[in-house]
Amino acid sequence: MEKYDVLIIGAGIAGLYAAMQLPASKKVLVVCKDIPWECNTFYAQGGMTTALNEADIPSHIADTMAAGSFHNSKEAVEILSRTSLETTQDIIDKGMQFDTDEEGNILYTKEAAHSVERIIHAGGDATGRYMHYFMMVQNKHKLQKNTLVYDLLIEDGRCFGVKATVNYEPTTIYADDVIIASGGIGSLYEFNTNSRTVSADIHGICVEKGIALADMEFMQFHPTVFVETPYARKLLLTEALRGEGAHVVDDEGRRFLFDYDERGELASRDIVARGIFTHIRKTGQKAYLDFSMFEKNWFEHRFPNITHTFASLGYSFPTDKISISPAFHYANGGIKCDTNGCIEGMEGLYVIGEAARTGVHGANRLASNSLLEGAVFAKRAVDHLLSKAHKVIEIPKFEKDYGNILHKDNDKIYKHKLRQIMWEDIGIIRTTKGLHEAKNLIYDMKNKEIGRLLELRLNTASAIVDAALARTESLGSHYIESDR
Ligand code: SIN
Repeated sequence: MEKYDVLIIGAGIAGLYAAMQLPASKKVLVVCKDIPWECNTFYAQGGMTTALNEADIPSHIADTMAAGSFHNSKEAVEILSRTSLETTQDIIDKGMQFDTDEEGNILYTKEAAHSVERIIHAGGDATGRYMHYFMMVQNKHKLQKNTLVYDLLIEDGRCFGVKATVNYEPTTIYADDVIIASGGIGSLYEFNTNSRTVSADIHGICVEKGIALADMEFMQFHPTVFVETPYARKLLLTEALRGEGAHVVDDEGRRFLFDYDERGELASRDIVARGIFTHIRKTGQKAYLDFSMFEKNWFEHRFPNITHTFASLGYSFPTDKISISPAFHYANGGIKCDTNGCIEGMEGLYVIGEAARTGVHGANRLASNSLLEGAVFAKRAVDHLLSKAHKVIEIPKFEKDYGNILHKDNDKIYKHKLRQIMWEDIGIIRTTKGLHEAKNLIYDMKNKEIGRLLELRLNTASAIVDAALARTESLGSHYIESDR
């Protein structure tokens, strides 16, 4: 029997930072669905927020609460900001190199809705990639790829492990504690910036087991994404570009975002995304990011990742402007937990990172708070786990297995349809009529001959549409327009 002290599902920042906190004396397994760098952390560009010092904490808290439309849990936000000082220092002390000036002072940048420059970055615009590599190297526990979790083993309010395919073979993995760090729900949306592995499976299992999801109506759309590629993951153009001074313009070169908010390009992410979406819809014009104000060498040094990625598509930055659209980016809601990652009524199961709804983000996440949240709450969950008295656990028999019905013939067609429905009817601007139509279509699909993984996606989609229908007034990233 394969049994661990701790099983961590997911190898992004939350999963890896949790693993880094677990002593070598523990038998730990970290699993990821594909290759380890297929995770949202790897694709994070802009940076990681940190309070600059004690004096900056109230301002960071205020910015986070304002971006979240004050729907946030104040307690969770305070923990995030206060702990950021020690978490950032810990990561630096362990050897992570953030970008510095020539004297070795850390460089801070600004993104939308931050009052001051407090975002640290690495490799210019490749923060996630650098942090992910750093944490992969730091992690001394076993990491197993190609492990797709399709069930949580739960009985009488306790989790005993998971069922998963490992290299396509159904397997049972038992653990005293399971930490969910599986990320958000990006693959549900036609246009999204997420890794292809982020497909809401674990959220769907939670729905099935009666584990609460919360704030699922608050899906975040990033304003500046290049969507004209055939791949599922669309190409992010970091908010740090606007933080450094890039403009959003239309076909006529007009900075139209000031029509929507006096902060223009630096309004919070939900406002900028809606402004771009509405302007495109209203005028039939395209929206672009314009970098022409930047000096070429400076731009290439500050944004090397974007410069090279887009050069391979034929763009020469900063001279060329690039067409942009909003796209799904981040799940503000998730599996409901307390500030230690514990799930009410459930023993042996924690949730951290984007998968978790700690209450930090409220109705709309402040830019670059997510890497920080992943690290801060991973450590808290591990501290909680390690503080528990050891119990001998008797494992019940789990007969039911879905390993042979993960996929069915028509799943691809339905998955594609689901992505369109999510984008069109449960997207940036919603109507009650559209939400009801989406709900019916999702329900119809659930009653077709479908595989387990699609069923799990549909469970999560249902949770999103139900939450959106339940909130009849607009708030943060949930925007309801009256039916026309
Ligand atoms: C970005 O670089 O614009 C994304 C940062 C984030 O999602 O917090």
